[in-house]
Amino acid sequence: MIAEAASAKINLALHVTGRRDDGYHLLDTLVAFADIGDRLTVETAAAGAGISLEITGPFAKGLSGADDNLVLAAARTLEAVAAKRGKLVPPARLSLEKNLPVASGIGGGSADAAATLRALNRLWGLDLSAEALAELSAPLGADVPMCVVGHPLRATGIGTDLHPFAAFAGADALLVNPGVSVSTPAVFKALTARDNAGIGAVPDLSDREALIAFVATCRNDLEATAAKLAPAIADALAAVDNTAPLLTRMSGSGATVFGLYDSAEAAKRAAEAIAAEHPEWWVMPTKLMPAV
Ligand code: C5P
Repeated sequence: MIAEAASAKINLALHVTGRRDDGYHLLDTLVAFADIGDRLTVETAAAGAGISLEITGPFAKGLSGADDNLVLAAARTLEAVAAKRGKLVPPARLSLEKNLPVASGIGGGSADAAATLRALNRLWGLDLSAEALAELSAPLGADVPMCVVGHPLRATGIGTDLHPFAAFAGADALLVNPGVSVSTPAVFKALTARDNAGIGAVPDLSDREALIAFVATCRNDLEATAAKLAPAIADALAAVDNTAPLLTRMSGSGATVFGLYDSAEAAKRAAEAIAAEHPEWWVMPTKLMPAV
């Protein structure tokens, strides 16, 4: 059995810098990955069994295991790539432990699809490089290639032009999801400004203070619009702000927001305070992983 982590993706900054003719938006985003996430396992199944998917975990009920699931779509994409190379792959049994809230701005489905590609690449002995996997994954969704890479990076274009960092500090963080799901297309559609400045020249981010100081100069251009569509996002931002973090921001198109703290202890204390006040919210202290 092969296991792959599907780490939560955090947009430390997300600037919307334009829009293409096909409606997709141009982005300039700074992305880190958390040490929590979903978990995907794959194993070879009996002949004739095909590709199957079982979903477990705290957020399993929010997901369909039907063919439109991004995990199955990723498996079929890779199966087709193998077939094109003349390789007939054996059936596979996939199992997804869904620990992250669904449709919540922290990668979820994209990270699951990326983990599927990495896991099946190993199970089927396809020997595709991470770059090749990232490239073939773009049709599955604009956030999938960055999740294939899985290390701190800057992404431009529609989010698929990837610039990984050789040096990038880790950080203590808290993720808070107020239990509403937000439609990404609806947030993009409701934007009133689309030609914003990018994140500019990025300094050396190998030191945590430099990282937080730089992130503080950036924005999430989807935040105000998402909070208007889903006021619970504003409540979550205010709740995190109340715990004296170094920085508070929304990730992706929401509804998950995050705080950055100067220690794991401070992130844990903030988590306890928010969970006590909002027992129905998903509140998760974590670490953003440094570049390796
Ligand atoms: O690529 P993905 O299917 O994840 O995108 C979902 C939706 O989000 C798109 O259909 C589009 O409405 C919006 N989007 C966008 N610009 C991007 C990425 C996503 O407008 N760069």
